[in-house]
Amino acid sequence: MKSLGILLSGRGSNFVAIADSIDAGRIPDARISVVISNKADVPGIATARARGLTALVIPSKGRPREEHDREVVGALKQHGVGLVCLAGYMRLLSPWFVQQFPHRILNIHPSLLPAFPGLEAQEQAFAYGVKVSGCTVHFVDEELDHGAIIVQKTVPVLNGDDEHTLSARILEQEHIAYTEAIKIVLAGRFEVVGRRLVAGQKAEVRMQE
Ligand code: GRF
Repeated sequence: MKSLGILLSGRGSNFVAIADSIDAGRIPDARISVVISNKADVPGIATARARGLTALVIPSKGRPREEHDREVVGALKQHGVGLVCLAGYMRLLSPWFVQQFPHRILNIHPSLLPAFPGLEAQEQAFAYGVKVSGCTVHFVDEELDHGAIIVQKTVPVLNGDDEHTLSARILEQEHIAYTEAIKIVLAGRFEVVGRRLVAGQKAEVRMQE
């Protein structure tokens, strides 16, 4: 049984999509061992508790990054987490955190990376006037929204869109993409060569600089 740890800071719809996929058997042999928020009173934590999951608040405000990260990593390890899923976690991880889970931290970002990294990606894409946007699930490395790409989904930008309708259409695809990416990573049948993840037969992760 693979143990997932979810880190979030807010609404938690990607967390719910992952939890639903596990409950429905779309992600086999996995469970969510702990949900951690760096902010108190967020919907994601209330939802996790309502679903009977262990949910912790480890506040980050005003704390040095690595000091906070050490507490979070301690909780993840205490709960036996093997794969960390960032799901709207609005805090950069320290290099130390990333090194604790090599190729075992995923993030979802609401644009087709490397376009529009950072905050408010959907608004950035809409304002730029792109005709296609989407979402990206990627490994987390030490740079923001940067690690090797696991899954991307495209979404058209329609004439009548505003940033809200576009965000909603991207979010639907996020929920599908995250489950796909987790399945690929847990199955282990892929290689990472340079930046390229190649799905295949090999049960190994090979990173080349
Ligand atoms: C999503 O758009 C995700 O791509 C981004 O933050 C948002 C989180 O939404 N990283 P939710 O909390 O999962 O509903």
